[in-house]
Amino acid sequence: MNAAIRAVVRTSIAHNLEVAGIYRGYQGLIDGDIVEMQAHSVSNIIQRGGTILKSSRCEAFRTEEGRKKAYKQIKKHGLDGLVVIGGDGTFTGARVFSSEYPFPIVGVPGTIDNDLYGTDYTIGYDTALNTAMEAVDKIRDTADSHNRLFFVEVMGRDAGFIALNCGIAGGAEAVLVPESPTYIDDIIQKLDEGWKRKKSSSIIIVAEGDDQGGAFKVAEKVNKKFKQYNTRVVVLGHIQRGGSPSCFDRVLASRLGAGAVVALLEGLSNVMVGLVNQEIVHTSFTKATKHHQEIDKNLLDLVEILSV
Ligand code: F6P
Repeated sequence: MNAAIRAVVRTSIAHNLEVAGIYRGYQGLIDGDIVEMQAHSVSNIIQRGGTILKSSRCEAFRTEEGRKKAYKQIKKHGLDGLVVIGGDGTFTGARVFSSEYPFPIVGVPGTIDNDLYGTDYTIGYDTALNTAMEAVDKIRDTADSHNRLFFVEVMGRDAGFIALNCGIAGGAEAVLVPESPTYIDDIIQKLDEGWKRKKSSSIIIVAEGDDQGGAFKVAEKVNKKFKQYNTRVVVLGHIQRGGSPSCFDRVLASRLGAGAVVALLEGLSNVMVGLVNQEIVHTSFTKATKHHQEIDKNLLDLVEILSV
């Protein structure tokens, strides 16, 4: 997100605009936690994880009263347009707000889940994916040396993009995602076939939103019926949301942040800026949040084919 903030600030300045930063998202907007930003305010942040402006899950913005307070702050600070960075919740808030108050808002997709419609990639996804893949590589060392079966849970409450691609890149034996039903017996059959072929270790990637209820539950159900392997569960958790962003994410965030300022200058509002086939495109908040990015079922088949 820092690379996106940097791009918004510096693109604005390049267009002779004044630019302010709002701390803690909608909460800071309601509280008037707003500061003027200069080019140097965003120096030396492109390589840093997290966000210098901080973030929050703001309950107050879900209420009419909260949004009214936010609009008052907008007027008080003389703002003419808003760039919001986030995912589903951020854009839903923006959509509701601009249906009540005629105020230009443009969104930048920032979520490690990569589940927003209207962009091939969301900011943070590539970094999170690489973090998860590197963790799986390290886990594989123990799996292999100790002849173990590992269930590795990755983030993705409603989306399996991290699980699927981390699974392919990490050579997982199976990948369980929310977009496709999980059958415990199928996993057991796969493990059994491997065991009979003298496979000494296996790694199964489980998205946290998988319909069986996460890696611990899946491990428990599998272990009840298939006891051959010594089993361990690892939940990767928030390490996936931090760390220095990948080159891909920095470039993506720079392009989308700049694109958001240009969109506001062109008079666009209520849209998310995305990158589709390397081109900047605009998608309404309604579409971006209501239609989820579809997972490629061919890639799930690929896991099956490659994990013999
Ligand atoms: O929505 C993005 C996401 O990364 C999910 O994949 C994950 O379940 C969630 O955020 C974690 O959120 P929190 O930090 O609030 O626990």
